[in-house]
Amino acid sequence: MNKSQKSTQFLFTIPPLKNGEFEAIRSLIYKKSGIFLGKEKKILVRSRLGKILRRRKIPSFKEYYKLIVGDTTGQEFTQLLNAISTNFTQFFREREHFEFLKEVIIPNCSQNRQIKIWSAGCSSGEEPYSIAITLLEKVKDIKEWNIKILATDISTRVLEKAIRGFYQEEQLATLSKVTLRKYFLRGNGDWAGYYQVRPEIKKMIEFKHVNLLKPFPFKIMFNIIFCRNVMIYFDRPTKEDLITRFSQVLVPGGYFFIGHSESLMGIRHNFKYIRPAIYQKV
Ligand SMILES: C[S@@+](CC[C@H](N)C(=O)[O-])C[C@H]1O[C@@H](n2cnc3c(N)ncnc32)[C@H](O)[C@@H]1O
Repeated sequence: MNKSQKSTQFLFTIPPLKNGEFEAIRSLIYKKSGIFLGKEKKILVRSRLGKILRRRKIPSFKEYYKLIVGDTTGQEFTQLLNAISTNFTQFFREREHFEFLKEVIIPNCSQNRQIKIWSAGCSSGEEPYSIAITLLEKVKDIKEWNIKILATDISTRVLEKAIRGFYQEEQLATLSKVTLRKYFLRGNGDWAGYYQVRPEIKKMIEFKHVNLLKPFPFKIMFNIIFCRNVMIYFDRPTKEDLITRFSQVLVPGGYFFIGHSESLMGIRHNFKYIRPAIYQKV
């Protein structure tokens, strides 16, 4: 960036986000992604989208909104969602689910030697990679198994990160040294301080761009669906519709995992409660 570019960048102040503009943007986000942003999110929206306005020198949120709705490729909306969605995740986040997978579900599937798992809202890949590591640790004759791990997200930014499989050392703090050595390659030179998931683990996972609000673009029946810390952004009708569709792609007896801070209370569903954040299709 040269000096004059730097100074125009510096001079650009993020415009105010007027109430009408905020309403238009948040209802567009809700309509297209199911993500419900409360009125208190106005400052957050201005700050996250303001970065796009600044980078592209778009003078107002009204202009930006026009750009998004006028874009038939969908790329503008994807960029907006990449900026707005909250993607926090961790390896082996909410460890109880991985214990349950290891101790209950994998043994149940061992007769058929087949397991199909969907990480719906996988963010930057920590969840599906934790699933793959759990399988590798538990299933001794894994080569004899038919395994499918599908990992999907609406955000292309996090999906790209998941596919690259590069993580900073701090992001791997929840993993033991043994796991790190077994399943990751340590970077050196320019990549010192980074680790990459080993190719044989990457190969176990299919990453796909999927908006959960739209009809699922595949016909697979799963043994488990992880949809953790995703529906927190959705309102009740959106959750009910999604949960009904999840249940349609689960095998009878299949499991459904949600985040431990979430609940299906007050939501119509036909799952059986097993333990906190674990449900089963009956
Ligand atoms: C907080 S992260 C949760 C990641 C992981 N499941 C976990 O629990 O650690 C929520 C993810 O849901 C994704 N998401 C939000 N709305 C979505 C939608 N309509 N379709 C697909 N993914 C969505 C976001 O992009 C984000 O990556």
